[in-house]
Amino acid sequence: MSQVTAIKQSNITDTEFLNDVLNGLTQEQKTLPCKYFYDDKGAALFEQITTLQEYYVTRTELSILEQYSQAIAQLLPDNLSIIEPGCGSGKKVAYLLAHMANVKTFVPFEISQEMLSYSLAHLSPLFPELVISPLLGDFTHSQMVKQLTKDTALDSQTNLVYFPGSTLGNFSPVKAIEIMSNFHRLCGVNGYVLIGIDLVKERQVLLDAYDDKAGVTAAFNKNLLGRINNELNANFDLTTFSHQSRFNEVHSKIEMHLISLCDQSVIIDNQQIHFDKGESIHTENSHKYTVESFAALAGQAGLKLENTWQDANDYFALCLLRPA
Ligand code: AVI
Repeated sequence: MSQVTAIKQSNITDTEFLNDVLNGLTQEQKTLPCKYFYDDKGAALFEQITTLQEYYVTRTELSILEQYSQAIAQLLPDNLSIIEPGCGSGKKVAYLLAHMANVKTFVPFEISQEMLSYSLAHLSPLFPELVISPLLGDFTHSQMVKQLTKDTALDSQTNLVYFPGSTLGNFSPVKAIEIMSNFHRLCGVNGYVLIGIDLVKERQVLLDAYDDKAGVTAAFNKNLLGRINNELNANFDLTTFSHQSRFNEVHSKIEMHLISLCDQSVIIDNQQIHFDKGESIHTENSHKYTVESFAALAGQAGLKLENTWQDANDYFALCLLRPA
């Protein structure tokens, strides 16, 4: 029987959410942190995005996994524990687990309780011998990761930290280095880190991937305002904002914005925030790397690139790293 250990509670609070929102919306360029996209509704919308024709990211990464997971598994030792920060539905790790006979433990590490439950329900029947040891929390909080590593003695075993989906691209280069340093800590001295990265490609392919015809990405983006309404006592009118994707060539990243369609004021927890007509809220960055730019970034986290696997179009790469 698969074994499910106690779920650890995240310590993200409403106060932290409120502070982040008010801080972001009082900057000259208004911003909102993209980590707040993933309430239960946002997580479900993101799952829908991953099935869209325009959003090549997920199916391309899955095709790389399908083709190469056996080759990847052969490079890894037996008795590994796989830790997956931001595991989502647990779909991707299933490919790896299917090819790794001696993985003892899987540690899904998620901010969304719904996704954590979904990944448990999905993986337990597929891998009945696997010990599943979920962690509910925010892997972007270095302090939290440090504490969890200590509490669970995760770093005393050999781990593979698995971070697919190009989620790393949603962080600034500085934060990406910090997160990879956390992975370095989590994987232990003899451990491994496997990261999926989205590669630089034709501009229109990128723009379409973040502005699909069916409007699912727009709904995902606007849901952030809905979440603020629900959780922080705000009164955003979602019909007065439109979704926009932009490619920033200088920083090699897709940006998502919400554009105010009129002059308006919004109340958030008794504080009034004004929006000019045409003013944007910058809600997400999604960095696009070359293998070289990524290797340089990982190097700053003390990780050395050992191997990469790519699809035929060179749209996406899976990168295996080890402590340098
Ligand atoms: C989760 N992350 C990797 C997605 C991305 O591609 O940057 C989030 C996303 N935003 C819009 N579409 C998908």
